[in-house]
Amino acid sequence: MCGIVAYLGERQAFDIILKGLKRLEYRGYDSSGIALADQNGLKLYKKQGKVADLEHFTTGKNISGSTGIGHTRWATHGEPNDKNAHPHLSQDESLAIIHNGIIENYSSLKQELINKGHMFRSDTDSEVVIHFIEDIRNNNACSLEEAVRLALTKIVGAYAIVVIDQNDPNLLIAARKGSPLVIGVGKDEYFLASDATPIIEYTNEVVYLNDYEIAIIRKEGLILKNIEAVQTNPYIQTIDLELDAIEKGGYDHFMLKEIYEQPKSIGDAMRGRLNAASGHLVLGGIRDYLNRLVSADRIVILACGTSWHAGLVAEYFLEDLCRIPVEVEYASEFRYRNPIIREGDVIIAISQSGETADTLAAIELAKSKGAIIFGVVNAVGSSIARTSHVGAYIHAGPEIGVASTKAFTAQVAVLSMIAMIVAYKKGTITETKYHELLVELETIPKKVEKALQLDKKSKAIAERFKDARNFLYLGRGYNFPVALEGALKLKEISYIHAEGYPAAEMKHGPIALIDEEMPVVFIATRDGSYDKIISNIQEVKARKGKVIAIVTEGDVLIPTIADYVLEVPVTIDALMPLVSVIPLQLLSYYIANLRGCNVDQPRNLAKSVTVE
Ligand code: M6R
Repeated sequence: MCGIVAYLGERQAFDIILKGLKRLEYRGYDSSGIALADQNGLKLYKKQGKVADLEHFTTGKNISGSTGIGHTRWATHGEPNDKNAHPHLSQDESLAIIHNGIIENYSSLKQELINKGHMFRSDTDSEVVIHFIEDIRNNNACSLEEAVRLALTKIVGAYAIVVIDQNDPNLLIAARKGSPLVIGVGKDEYFLASDATPIIEYTNEVVYLNDYEIAIIRKEGLILKNIEAVQTNPYIQTIDLELDAIEKGGYDHFMLKEIYEQPKSIGDAMRGRLNAASGHLVLGGIRDYLNRLVSADRIVILACGTSWHAGLVAEYFLEDLCRIPVEVEYASEFRYRNPIIREGDVIIAISQSGETADTLAAIELAKSKGAIIFGVVNAVGSSIARTSHVGAYIHAGPEIGVASTKAFTAQVAVLSMIAMIVAYKKGTITETKYHELLVELETIPKKVEKALQLDKKSKAIAERFKDARNFLYLGRGYNFPVALEGALKLKEISYIHAEGYPAAEMKHGPIALIDEEMPVVFIATRDGSYDKIISNIQEVKARKGKVIAIVTEGDVLIPTIADYVLEVPVTIDALMPLVSVIPLQLLSYYIANLRGCNVDQPRNLAKSVTVE
């Protein structure tokens, strides 16, 4: 949550920062601001609303300066308005800060500073940090670098910060703990951002800052120190990220682009790992710890949101194929439950962003109890990727739409490969079954491509139901997590209330909601519970509910009962979620779009949830 960008070099900082903030807007979009420093002092511009509002506000103003910091906010402390927007100034207005994260002890620090005569201009926790740094510098007559370090030893919480000083415009000081920060290394210039997307247009050489590291950046060079002031060596990595991957490429929205990218992104998740013809299936990242999975007494999956739904799909096939008991936990609940982790348990942590605070904290807790962590992550170099003992990237590429789509299918693809490898090694599936699974998984990108042809039909159904006030999504077996995911997609981007349920649970309560106004989406592909789900559809029809059914191609029965039908290609039950979710993503997208909602940046949400 919140995106930060900073620049120090020879170019005009404002343009680089503004463009970077637009790229990071998926992280927060309720207000934004930029501070610039040069020999004439600090210039500060802040505005409630989108980055475009800041751009409009600064038109015609003095935006010169080759050092600057910028921020796009997702409000935690204090409502979204101009004064709470970052950057925040110190008492004497010579220092400015941008901050992503939460300072837990801000209120006691603030009180101490108020007692010393400090006056605050905002309601934020972040402003307290810069006043605190200023106070330390004044009292100790020390350098800014030392003041930042001393302040951080007293601060409790999560942060990625960048500080700028009007009296030393050739200096940026950055630090992180729990919130991401990447430093792009150019020739006599440096770019800082919450992820690499604002940086790649200028350089692909980056340093991922570690927790408790402080970066002292001048045109002449970058120095890293730990919180004990001991100098460390920056590890410069070359990142492989194309500009095309972070642009809309002709689509109206990132979400639609990402839905359409799925044949490729699922293919990328398997590239170099799976070759059905030769029976090759290897995930290099987990090879060394594979035996821990094979001999696991229990697998605990930790995730949030859509990643949690991918975990539920994995529960079905890990139990089904590998015969290992699986528990899928909301990371946020796990971490506060004093959970039991025994020797022989293995944790799989799933996250698109790799920065979700609840998942990170749950991982740390599990690690402290001696667990081994397998990470299934999209964002390369992210905190979860780095804190996991071992893992497999899903290689979906940057996902910018706040509603997760291609990450879900790539997660399911990678988790299914893990299950296949483990089941084969454990001997819980036959050689023939193993080969069938490989062949079928390899055909999935083509099937997803076919499912995408449901675009027009999904849009027509969206036209019919765009004004509905509630939706119910029902599925059984492997399609139950898909029902949950369909409902989440719809509610987060269209603001229509939607619930996902196992279809058989309907009669235990939700059936009371059904009347002629209620659209019910059944994920009713031809699988082991096909006959049962037909009975559930009949129960809805008997109460005049409107049925939208996702069925398998060639189904002749359900189309005679349902009001609307979307046909997806045939595949095995275990892989059906990869295909059956596609029309649900399209349906949500079109409903939200027809309702005039901001599909890529839905209200109150942010892509990367780095707060509890
Ligand atoms: O980055 P993560 O996968 O850890 O994020 C987890 C959830 O915050 C995320 O899936 C969220 O639910 C999405 N908005 C769903 O579309």
